[in-house]
Amino acid sequence: MIKIICVCGARPNFMKIAPIVRAFETSGRFETLLVHTGQHYDQKMSELFFDELGIPKPDVNLGVGSGSHAVQTAEIMKRFEPVVLEFKPDYVLVVGDVNSTIACGLVAVKLGVKLIHVEAGLRSFDRTMPEEINRVLTDSISDLLFVTEQSGMDNLKNEGVNSDRVHFVGNVMIDTLMANREKASRSTILSDLDLQPREYAVITLHRPSNVDDADIFGRIVAAFEVIEKEMKLVFPIHPRTRNNMQKTDLGRRVEAMQNLILLDPVGYLDFLCLMSNAGLVMTDSGGIQEETTILGVPCMTLRENTERPVTITEGTNRLVPITSEDILQNYRQIKAGKHSAKAKVPKYWDGKAAERIAGIIAGHCGL
Ligand code: UD1
Ligand code: UDP
Repeated sequence: MIKIICVCGARPNFMKIAPIVRAFETSGRFETLLVHTGQHYDQKMSELFFDELGIPKPDVNLGVGSGSHAVQTAEIMKRFEPVVLEFKPDYVLVVGDVNSTIACGLVAVKLGVKLIHVEAGLRSFDRTMPEEINRVLTDSISDLLFVTEQSGMDNLKNEGVNSDRVHFVGNVMIDTLMANREKASRSTILSDLDLQPREYAVITLHRPSNVDDADIFGRIVAAFEVIEKEMKLVFPIHPRTRNNMQKTDLGRRVEAMQNLILLDPVGYLDFLCLMSNAGLVMTDSGGIQEETTILGVPCMTLRENTERPVTITEGTNRLVPITSEDILQNYRQIKAGKHSAKAKVPKYWDGKAAERIAGIIAGHCGL
């Protein structure tokens, strides 16, 4: 048996870890310990996804909660080390690019345990993004790197990573989307919110670069104030964003919009249903750029760069600079039907990425 610790901690990790844990279980060759760092802890940012996606209850919850980058990262490391020492795994597997990813990765390699990174190689080339630092560092200490798109393969090659360690396997987040699409189609959220397919836009925002600065966040809100006159907006709001909004006049402005439906974060099935039927998604999320590509829904990514370029070259995504004018101009183009809904499925985004990962790890262990 291969002893492996699987780590998750923040919302996007749960969609990624779900098919991996399932594939390990199905394979019969793994003894898995599931560790939740507790980076996200609200019921609607964490527990809800375990219930909906059928992820087993974590064997260990480190309960770290929020803090500055240094405090959060250090606290995860302190609490994760004794877990690794006790379980004595052959591998630690981390996903994505959040603080839990690098914190647990560092603990593993310092204890001489092999590290696996799922979603390796993505680069925005923007070192002001905390996630970019987490991605670069995690890849540099990983023994096995599983990649979602060709750009990731190219980036790792350019960085001199030994190709024996790198495997192009596809996208575990899309495994989850495919496994849940039908279930999501039975969600009642559209009728609950009185929404008609394609006649509304979905919004998510949580990048510090967009929502921590009231001036920048204000430019985005100003664009929404225009758009909501023409199209309903549905905005399940991230706790970081709600906290920031409430510190300024922006909270009042968002709540004053008649056609904007402000919600707490919603569960995966409701969110997938909302996205699938939307006319447009406006977001700064990483994962949502990929999901809208598969769903064929136009996506305006309110960022200067993306670490997921295949969503632009093959998908429905476009980058939109953060000015009210740019947001409005792109919205109008999409509304007029001028968007690139090429609906091409990127290579290996076929629902089988986790299965491939389990097979490759087992192969490395000679099983
Ligand atoms: C984190 C990740 C980001 C990822 C995002 C997904 C890092 C550096 N950032 O950003 O890459 O895209 O998760 O959602 O790892 N909070 C709550 N309840 C919660 C969780 C957070 O109220 O359950 C509030 C707290 O005030 C906290 C703030 O949100 O300080 C930010 O949380 P944090 O985990 O530090 O970063 P995110 O912005 O969520
Ligand atoms: N998501 C969700 N409910 C919401 C908003 C997002 O289930 O209210 C899902 C979304 O479908 C995707 C994941 O959360 O699977 C993306 O997480 P997030 O945007 O927080 O993180 P990122 O991908 O930017 O790291």
